[in-house]
Amino acid sequence: MTVIKDNTVWEYTRAGRLSGTISQAHRAIPEPGPGELVIKVRAAALNPVDEQLYVAVAPHASILTDSAQAPPTFLNLTGCTPPTPTTPLVPGIDFAGVVHASKSAAYAVGDQVYGQRFSPAGHGFLAEYVTVHASAPFVKKPKELSWAEAAAVPLVYTTVYDALVEWGRLPFLTGGGRGLSVLVLGGSSGTGHVAVQLAKKMGCNVVATCSGKNAQMVKDLGADDIIDYTTQHVPQAALMSQYAPYAVVLDCVGGTALLPHLDHLLLNSAEHPQLGIYVTIVGDKTSRDAMGGAATNLYTPAQVVRTALGRLNDYLPRWTRTWTGRRYACIMLDPTKEKLETYDKFLTAGGKVMVDGVWGFDEAREAYKRLESARAKGKVVVEVSKE
Ligand SMILES: NC(=O)c1ccc[n+]([C@@H]2O[C@H](COP(=O)([O-])OP(=O)(O)OC[C@H]3O[C@@H](n4cnc5c(N)ncnc54)[C@H](OP(=O)(O)O)[C@@H]3O)[C@@H](O)[C@H]2O)c1
Repeated sequence: MTVIKDNTVWEYTRAGRLSGTISQAHRAIPEPGPGELVIKVRAAALNPVDEQLYVAVAPHASILTDSAQAPPTFLNLTGCTPPTPTTPLVPGIDFAGVVHASKSAAYAVGDQVYGQRFSPAGHGFLAEYVTVHASAPFVKKPKELSWAEAAAVPLVYTTVYDALVEWGRLPFLTGGGRGLSVLVLGGSSGTGHVAVQLAKKMGCNVVATCSGKNAQMVKDLGADDIIDYTTQHVPQAALMSQYAPYAVVLDCVGGTALLPHLDHLLLNSAEHPQLGIYVTIVGDKTSRDAMGGAATNLYTPAQVVRTALGRLNDYLPRWTRTWTGRRYACIMLDPTKEKLETYDKFLTAGGKVMVDGVWGFDEAREAYKRLESARAKGKVVVEVSKE
């Protein structure tokens, strides 16, 4: 029997940055297994972690020389055993699309959905048709969002939600943040610009770092005070701001510059003993190519110690902070349907995930080039199909 290969995908098959190494291939349209759906992808958003998986992790997993025959080493170190990829890897975590086939009672053919799946095994969304399990972190797409706008949301929004609400303990969109301050490092980035808006909409004063050229944009998103990281000393300016100390410092850039100053940067008040945390989604590293988030614990012992003490401080009374330091967390994306569903409220409150640009499916390499530039303002999106 001849298999019709009319599922065009972008595959990663050799060493190097994705802008130069992905190539198109044709595969069969997949069939859903029990509890699964096949999504016809309309748009996919790109993320730095796409690159990190392939630039930082894959070389150590012999994927580069052996066409994706080995699972990524770092995951084995964490104790997980991902399935060994048998075909070249398809990148792409965020998607918006239409249910094309369903073996789940929860979703019908034609449903418009959006969500994410982090797949080191290479089952990404730079493909026309992708299988997902109905339990994966995706939900029905809000009607107000275009396909590109919807694809831009899941990873950055759920990460910021985790950082500010789950770890930061700020009350989600109740206005309960009034009188509290949040410092966002990287206010123009895909994650940072969402954090600026969410913190503001929760009632907080927001201070954000960005370059001068993006200052107005970040102010328009809700920042009360801007620190231009290209001309100012960030720790000094953050400490001197009228809005210091901060209930949450959210680091979307990486590095250690602010860590020696946590005693003065973070709120430590009897009125809000539960607040005052440094949350980083990147870790101590500054290279955009290195795997970030909690994965950095694997090669940064100082961060492991800081993380352990940071967690301990979740449970200890406030007066012990003189000796044990401050709450600190280096977090890894932990998406759920429930978290993504809260996006509707953010949208109703006037929040948005900005799209830096939309590239056609055939221009995916150009889109990765934009992501690799580290200059995107908001999300880089690929329109996978027009219908
Ligand atoms: N742990 C997790 O679960 C998780 C989840 C999402 C993202 N991340 C990580 O978070 C980082 C950011 O991701 P992203 O998608 O938000 O990145 P992005 O949008 O690609 O970042 C580009 C933006 O960062 C700004 N920027 C670059 N260097 C800066 C600096 N030193 N200070 C302030 N702003 C700076 C750039 O503005 P200028 O042009 O003005 O420089 C640009 O707007 C990445 O390392 C990513 O892997 C981790």
